Amino acid sequence: MRQLLVAGNWKLNGSLELVFALLSGISDRLSEVGNTEVAVCPPFIYLEHARRQLQGLEIALGAQDCSDQQQGAYTGEVSAAMIRELGCKYIIVGHSERRHLYSESDATVAMKFERVRESDLIPILCVGETLEERESGHTEMVISRQLDAVLKRSGVGGFRHAVIAYEPVWAIGTGKTATPVQAQQVHAFIRGRLEAQDKEIAAHLRILYGGSVKPDNARELLQENDIDGGLIGGAALKAEDFVAIAAAGDA
Ligand code: 13P
Repeated sequence: MRQLLVAGNWKLNGSLELVFALLSGISDRLSEVGNTEVAVCPPFIYLEHARRQLQGLEIALGAQDCSDQQQGAYTGEVSAAMIRELGCKYIIVGHSERRHLYSESDATVAMKFERVRESDLIPILCVGETLEERESGHTEMVISRQLDAVLKRSGVGGFRHAVIAYEPVWAIGTGKTATPVQAQQVHAFIRGRLEAQDKEIAAHLRILYGGSVKPDNARELLQENDIDGGLIGGAALKAEDFVAIAAAGDA
């Protein structure tokens, strides 16, 4: 019922040369992917290049972040409306690297989520706990806090056209993946929280897992009931691995 989505978050990686090669590699192998939707999120500066290269291909484009402001004297910022002009469909908001390295608060993330919606794009809202939070039994509390900030601002209706990505911070770039059972538990918890407010929205909401997803662990993760795709970091920088992960969703 929910179409799987596998999105590559390229983070601060790339060069014009790499963008070209990576997109060529992905498009050359795209026939290996069945029903799963494929998206790539390169750095802002390469979005226009990617848009041109992807024309006519079934690969969606996304940005990794956007400003919490619409326009004005905010040096260095990029608005959701600008990103829309570049043919993007998705914008990632609240990635843990933004939350932790750039001190983005839950309220800022909620504001960005709203900006994405105002521009008729689809936010990919990242949530997730640190190792310390997990070990002290606070996973659900942290996820609830992160979700509630967005619910408070946008209401449950804000999730009608949105995607959530559960990315446990301890699994990002560490090679340490959440087990399918661990991930499924949190995904079910997230869906349950939204279900309490609107059953239909919760049933349609895609919840991606992110954190050291690789071709050899993708299938078992994507088979879980409430895991509707993946947000891929490191493995998204190798066309072969990225496409293998997307293809694993169809198995
Ligand atoms: P890795 O796949 O490199 O662990 O990164 C996950 C991530 O942060 C995607 O947004």
